[in-house]
Amino acid sequence: MRDTRTHFGYRQVPLADKQALVDGVFHKVARRYDLMNDLMSAGLHRAWKDALVTAINPPKSEREFTLLDVAGGTGDISFRTIAAGGPGTRATVADINADMLGVGRERAYAQALDDVVTFVDANAEALPFPDKSFDAVSIAFGIRNVPRIDVALKEMHRVLRLGGRFLCLEFSNVDVPGLDALYELYSFNVVPALGRLVAGDAEPYRYLVESIRRFPRPNAFADMMRAAGFARVSHRVMSGGIVALHSGWRL
Ligand SMILES: C[S@@+](CC[C@H](N)C(=O)[O-])C[C@H]1O[C@@H](n2cnc3c(N)ncnc32)[C@H](O)[C@@H]1O
Repeated sequence: MRDTRTHFGYRQVPLADKQALVDGVFHKVARRYDLMNDLMSAGLHRAWKDALVTAINPPKSEREFTLLDVAGGTGDISFRTIAAGGPGTRATVADINADMLGVGRERAYAQALDDVVTFVDANAEALPFPDKSFDAVSIAFGIRNVPRIDVALKEMHRVLRLGGRFLCLEFSNVDVPGLDALYELYSFNVVPALGRLVAGDAEPYRYLVESIRRFPRPNAFADMMRAAGFARVSHRVMSGGIVALHSGWRL
C-alpha cells in the first residue's frame, strides 16, 4: 500500500496536509525572509547562492537564456542570475506561496527588473509550463519543503530543454568533528531564538531546522535525481557540509 504519511519537520503528518503546513510557515516568514536569511546564515547564503549562479552560467552575450527557479520565493536566485547574465537572460520564479511571490514582485519593481523576472504562482509538483521550455532549472532551499520530491524532480526534468542543466542547492549534513556539535547547538537554539526576536515567532524556524535534518543525504538524493531522468548527476558540499549543490543534465 502507498505510504500516505510524511514528515513536517520531525512530526509525522498525512501527506495531504504537508503543503498547507509548509504554506503556513512561509506565510508567516515572507516579510522577514530575506533579512532572516542573512542573520541565520551570517551572510553565508550569499556565497552559496553565488556558487549556484556560477553553475547556472548565464551567457554574458545577447543570446537568449531562460532560467526557471522553482520554489523561488522572493526571487533571490533570479535577481542574481539576471545580474550575472547578459541582456538576453530572463528568469521565471515559480512558487506556491502568494506572500513570498508578493515580496519578490515588489523587489522586481523597485529595481526596474519586472520585465525580465516573471513571478508565477505554481506548485513544483505540477509546473504550468510546456515540456523542454527552459535552458536551466534551479531550486534553492526549496525541495525539502515539497511533499512529493520524486514528482517535483520529474516535473523539473520535463520542463528542461535537452542539454539543459538542473541545479539544486539544499542544506546537507555536517560531518566535520567539532563543527557538527556546534552546528547542532546553533540550529536548535540560536535559529529559533532569532526567529522569535526578529520575526516574532520561533515555530517556523524550528520547522526549517527539523526539515533540514530529515532531508536525504547527498548520495540518496543523487539516486532520486537519476530516477527522475537526470544524467551526469553530481554534487559538491560547501561550508563543511552545511549545504550541497546538486547538478544533473537532461540529455
Ligand atoms: C526556504 S524558501 C526558499 C526561497 C528561495 N529559493 C531562496 O533561496 O531564497 C522555500 C520556498 O519553497 C516554496 N514552496 C514550498 N512548497 C512548494 C511547492 N510545492 N511548490 C513550489 N514552491 C514551494 C515556499 O513557498 C518558499 O518560498
